[in-house]
Amino acid sequence: MSLRLRRFRPLVDEPILREMRSDIPLQHRLLAHPDPTAPVDVLAWVSRREALGWFRVVELKETITAGFVQLTDRHGLDRYAWVGIALHPRWQGSGWGRRAMQALAEEAKSGLDLRKLMLQVRSDNQNARHLYGTLGYREVGELRHHYFDGSEYHDVTMMELLLEGA
Ligand SMILES: CC(C)(COP(=O)(O)OP(=O)(O)OC[C@H]1O[C@@H](n2cnc3c(N)ncnc32)[C@H](O)[C@@H]1OP(=O)(O)O)[C@@H](O)C(=O)NCCC(=O)NCCS
Repeated sequence: MSLRLRRFRPLVDEPILREMRSDIPLQHRLLAHPDPTAPVDVLAWVSRREALGWFRVVELKETITAGFVQLTDRHGLDRYAWVGIALHPRWQGSGWGRRAMQALAEEAKSGLDLRKLMLQVRSDNQNARHLYGTLGYREVGELRHHYFDGSEYHDVTMMELLLEGA
């Protein structure tokens, strides 16, 4: 079944991305420091992400907005960037995350001429760590007590993937 990474379309994507931005536990899994009292402004958020890096919506079956992927802090000389991914809970656990990460790596290498992807993942996010490990990402270290979710500090694992042939 089809998956593609495409540009943000406000009318189609805003409701799903709004749900995700309003999901505080999900945002803490993304190390995003959500402010539960702040209004959710998806358009402003996406504009910031697009200005700072590369942002794409994960679209399934040519119609379904399932989440997003992004690359930030792209380094021109060293040709690496930091990966982010999140799927709406409705679309998690069915193999779409793996497909989206593969599509992202392909685009990073062929479209953006990157040679390395890096990411930070909360160490207790076993599903994500398992996924990244099976995609070839290597754990390069752990930042102890690094991310504060408002009640406790979480360890964060750093991972890297050298894009084959890059
Ligand atoms: C992390 C995330 C992108 C993974 O995408 P996904 O579509 O849920 O994962 P997949 O279905 O592709 O599964 C990937 C692997 O994780 C495992 N997995 C996924 N969900 C799981 C679950 N609920 N329990 C156990 N294992 C699970 C699968 O077994 C699979 O491994 P396998 O292919 O070797 O069997 C997605 O779950 C997500 O957006 N989570 C919330 C946000 C987040 O944590 N982002 C990452 C921050 S670094």
